[in-house]
Amino acid sequence: MNKKSVQILGLMTLAFLLINCAGNQTKKDSVEKMNIKKQIYGDLNGKGVYQFTMTNQHGMTVKIINYGGIVTHLFVPDDEGELTDVVLGYDSLQQYLDDTPYFGAIVGRYGNRIAKGKFSLDGNEYQLAANNGPNHLHGGIRGFDKVVWDADDFIRPDEAGVILTYISKDGEEGYPGNLDCRVTYTLTNDNELKIAYEAITDKPTVVNLTHHSYFNLKGQGEGDILNHQLQIMANRYVPVDQSLIPTGELREVKQSAMDFTTPHSIGSRIEKVEGGYDHTYVLNGYNGNMRLVARVTSPDTKMVMEVYTDLPGIQFYTGNFLDGSLTGKAGKIYHKHNGFCLETHHYPDTPNQPGFPPVVLRPGEKYETSTVYKFLTE
Ligand code: BGC
Repeated sequence: MNKKSVQILGLMTLAFLLINCAGNQTKKDSVEKMNIKKQIYGDLNGKGVYQFTMTNQHGMTVKIINYGGIVTHLFVPDDEGELTDVVLGYDSLQQYLDDTPYFGAIVGRYGNRIAKGKFSLDGNEYQLAANNGPNHLHGGIRGFDKVVWDADDFIRPDEAGVILTYISKDGEEGYPGNLDCRVTYTLTNDNELKIAYEAITDKPTVVNLTHHSYFNLKGQGEGDILNHQLQIMANRYVPVDQSLIPTGELREVKQSAMDFTTPHSIGSRIEKVEGGYDHTYVLNGYNGNMRLVARVTSPDTKMVMEVYTDLPGIQFYTGNFLDGSLTGKAGKIYHKHNGFCLETHHYPDTPNQPGFPPVVLRPGEKYETSTVYKFLTE
């Protein structure tokens, strides 16, 4: 080998070492340590809207903005570490401001419907906005999905997250009492997204908070969710009338298209359900403890999502009102059934249903509930 060949070989070896060290370094940083970033996302009436990005040691990444407490992105790894964004959403704050389907948001003060927006508590009558036909839906015209929350981030060896706080004033959207709310989103190294809700009040009120992500385990914008296999641990559901208000009955699911006590594909019986699924299930084993309440699998990506909660109900909604008029992330158009929601909450219209588990919060009491969305592969 002449001197020139030795020099070239030397340079090639050096380049090889540099490239590989840099490659490993990047991989090491991104896959072995929990991390969190905070970036400005936009501005709303002079109040900064921030986006928090949490990444765990497996690369699972969640992006949350403090407008509406919205989960804008949820990248979940498969066995090879390939990431798929499994939630519907938008690319800009303006689109979230114009939004109607509550993509990824925290919903409150009362998630789901209250008949005619009316209820009475301790002999006082309250009138809330009728923002969904004759009924009140998801906290009203400017619910918790449309406000800027205060936000503080935190990081620990095995988890990172954001604590969102918001004081909903006495009379806001017609609800009584100043409600001091705190929602903590946590990403863990076990590929879980945990949501802990807390609230206290200075007057008797009603509270029912939930989270409204539309999931698609094939990836957002990758078509419908009808072949996803779903199991819901519920022997009963809450039948509703034409305006989606409960009749008061809690009906057995067995021998009907509502039965997901064993896994079924979402689409297998959807034609039998007028308009598609948009029902609250009465979750088995409600005693205040966390338990597995739903499991969804995509046969395409083999991705599995498990839902755990301490709450009595879950709204299973198949994106029936998505009609192709919304353009989501990366220019994807969202059509009917392109996402599904599993919103853990109390049953709809509970303030008017004496037979349902109560949602009244009084001064001195604390509203405290948790839900976990956990991701794995099959
Ligand atoms: C409700 C649907 C409603 C949707 C709004 C769901 O939680 O169950 O009836 O249309 O939210 O996007």
